Amino acid sequence: MPDAHLAEPPPAAATRPYPLDPLSLEEIGAATALVTAEKNLGPAHRFAMVRLEEPGKAEIKAGGALPRLAFLLVLDRGSGDTFEGIVDLTAGVVSSWKRLPFDAAPYGQAPVMIEEFFRCEAVVKADAGWRAAMHRRGLTDEDIERVQVDPFSSGFFNNEFERGHRVVRAVSYYRENLKDNGYAHPIEGVVAVVDLVADKVVDLVDEAEIVPIPKKKRNYDLASQGPLRTDVKPLDIVQPQGPSFSVDGWKVAWQNWHFRVGFTPREGLVLYELGYQDGEKLRPIIYRASVTEMVVPYADPTANHYWKTAFDAGEYGLGKLANALELGCDCLGNIHYFDIPFADDAGAPFVMKNAVCMHEEDYGILWKHYEFRNETFEVRRSRRLVISFFATVGNYDYGFYWYLYQDGTIQLEAKLSGIIQTAAVAPGKPYPWGGMVDEGLGGPTHQHFFNARLHMDLDGGGNTVTEHEFLPRPWGKDNPYGNVFDTTSKTLARELDAARIADGVTGRYWKISNPNAANSVGKPTGYKMSFPPSPLMLAQEGSSVRRRGGFATKHVWVTQYDPAEKYASGDYPNLNAGGGGLPAYIQANRNIENEDIVVWHSFGHTHVCKPEDFPVMPVEYAGFMLKPNGFFAGNVAMDLPAGRNEHSVDHRAATGGGCCA
Ligand code: NI
Repeated sequence: MPDAHLAEPPPAAATRPYPLDPLSLEEIGAATALVTAEKNLGPAHRFAMVRLEEPGKAEIKAGGALPRLAFLLVLDRGSGDTFEGIVDLTAGVVSSWKRLPFDAAPYGQAPVMIEEFFRCEAVVKADAGWRAAMHRRGLTDEDIERVQVDPFSSGFFNNEFERGHRVVRAVSYYRENLKDNGYAHPIEGVVAVVDLVADKVVDLVDEAEIVPIPKKKRNYDLASQGPLRTDVKPLDIVQPQGPSFSVDGWKVAWQNWHFRVGFTPREGLVLYELGYQDGEKLRPIIYRASVTEMVVPYADPTANHYWKTAFDAGEYGLGKLANALELGCDCLGNIHYFDIPFADDAGAPFVMKNAVCMHEEDYGILWKHYEFRNETFEVRRSRRLVISFFATVGNYDYGFYWYLYQDGTIQLEAKLSGIIQTAAVAPGKPYPWGGMVDEGLGGPTHQHFFNARLHMDLDGGGNTVTEHEFLPRPWGKDNPYGNVFDTTSKTLARELDAARIADGVTGRYWKISNPNAANSVGKPTGYKMSFPPSPLMLAQEGSSVRRRGGFATKHVWVTQYDPAEKYASGDYPNLNAGGGGLPAYIQANRNIENEDIVVWHSFGHTHVCKPEDFPVMPVEYAGFMLKPNGFFAGNVAMDLPAGRNEHSVDHRAATGGGCCA
């Protein structure tokens, strides 16, 4: 949470920022001050988002001086009006200012802000109806003081209180003391709908049937654990000569890779201008890469759960909720941290310390061969560059890890950890909507979907996506032994043809290529997208979450680049009736062959809860890879020097342990 980040004096002003550099503290301060003065903003105004308004790819490629622009999303919490503004920092003017039409379908709201987390709890606890519901469940006024209230993004079910209103749905958890893990003690059957503009509870669910609150403590802090393992010896990552990367501001170089780091309130980490130095040539691969949205639909139809459909990027902001990472805990080795200039809800600039971590990791064997005939033995170890951040969104913690490998592979891995949503289950009753994790405690089944947006730039110029699959070839003159199978290839020419679903049986995969650039065997240069089996959204056609999170109904989408199409779920998914984002973007059915294209990939995990998920779940993984496929003329990692790691010794004899012969 941003309040965990220490404020510090602004770094010395850089001479001239690169057009994709995040806004500096000074720029954030100037942008909010300009808008405040010019639009007469008062104490009721909140800055839900302040970020760089990025120039387009073509403008950057054209070079030359570009104005520095700031995008601001401003909420008047007195009236509920929300404004989008653009400040031209170079000219020192507010160049655009518009009120968003959130009072008309499909509605929408700015993301939930940090201060609203706290305000929601105060509003709920002051509500007489909610207090009565707590009393009915056996809680005293003193207990109520310690109840944890979670303001959950509301979802949208076309209730009057949702249409054009800024509401959250609040669920509550009993805690015997403030340090307790509340998620072990859900209070079932009570949901308060809180209007964050009116500051009041506008709807309250208080079910007649009372489910006892599970009271068994399931705390996760160190002091609450039993005897700790005693056989974990230090495992040190030693880099006596420092890391192999170099950093210049936001620009990074490592093992032929070149890229720039960025960060936005909604997406968190962004990689720009990712390219690979291939001999004399720095070859572009991806212009911009980020995770623009995720959604977590819950599959429990009861009062506390049916509406839970967290869009953690668009409804909260993955970047806003980034953790300050700890050296020696979150990342090991020789770490470079990126501190991120940010604006708080009041528009005041501050530094998010250590929000992005970058380091190298050993990754086992990269390539190896032993030729027994002539005793030629060659092996090279792989290492990868890790650029990552972690966001805590309420109960869940999500890590986003980009990996670059020495053979040209790019990978994104989402790490899912934290605490599951829980449901109280009456003693002796089954829990039909998920798995039991402890006595009286269930975890509703749910899905997690992420969407990565990849604005491609393979070898510059126009790019094309082709779909391939493996199909058996019928017996015949061209298959006399029955062993032949074919790899089919189909060009995805228009957007409506390019919303695609994976098929593991036929090995369906997608390749991004540049038809204007030929590789060493005369084919278009390309990268292949590869990913493990990944679910699609299982909610019914016509359901609220399927309308709102339509991006999760296909694995792959391809659009012609449009700077206005930034997010898989559309601009304002909070309290939005749906229909926006990718399913809407592709309706134009634009050409995507040999074009400036964006490839969007939805991936995720279906989570049926189990005892091992509790109290904090071990990391679950989801993600994808982009692997060079006809991009290079050979294995580009043949030039790795052979080396023996001098720290790899057997210390066991020295420490009195057992030793091999
Ligand atoms: Ni989960």
